[in-house]
Amino acid sequence: MVPYKQLFENNKKWVEDNVARNADFLKKLSADQTPEYLYIGCSDSRVPANEIMGLEPGEVFVHRNIANVVNSLDLNVTSVIEYAVAYLNVKHIIVCGHYNCGGVKAAMTPTDMGILNPWLRNIRDVYRLHQEELDAIADESARYDRLVELNVFEQCLSVIKTAVVQEAYLANQFPTVHGWVFDLKTGMLKDLEIDFEAVLKKIQKIYDLTGYMKEHRNK
Ligand code: CO
Repeated sequence: MVPYKQLFENNKKWVEDNVARNADFLKKLSADQTPEYLYIGCSDSRVPANEIMGLEPGEVFVHRNIANVVNSLDLNVTSVIEYAVAYLNVKHIIVCGHYNCGGVKAAMTPTDMGILNPWLRNIRDVYRLHQEELDAIADESARYDRLVELNVFEQCLSVIKTAVVQEAYLANQFPTVHGWVFDLKTGMLKDLEIDFEAVLKKIQKIYDLTGYMKEHRNK
């Protein structure tokens, strides 16, 4: 364990190292942020957003919670999306899950976890939506991995269901939404290769918040 007081020593060294590497580091750090990416990931301490993508401070806007859930009633994540898209004009939104996710595991476990129940319910709902596929996977760890992937997919859909994303895409052809999974065993990121255009079109048959589909339905 790193002793508490060491954290400030580490911070000082971090500043010194960065300034030594780049004399403009602090100038750049204190300038307005213009990140092109919004990253929504798990709070898990083993998945450090900037580091795994090789991005510097200022390059990615980050939101993390247990099991990278995007729930429309969560003012936190919805505010982050609104701000990132409408004010920071991010070009890409990444939802990144990870194998061996404790939140996903807990949602597969029959137990009462108190205030975590309604949060993990989001993931149980993902299981229910894909129950046929998941129940057909005999191996429990493969089933767990697949639920991690399907959870990322469903949370991407949840991002695409927002008005701010639909309106920005209609106006600018960005942002696009991507689903990734981080593999703790290899350190590698896997792109689930979600076809954003196709998913958006499908989603808007029900969740259209722009009026675009209504206008173009008969054309
Ligand atoms: Co996790």
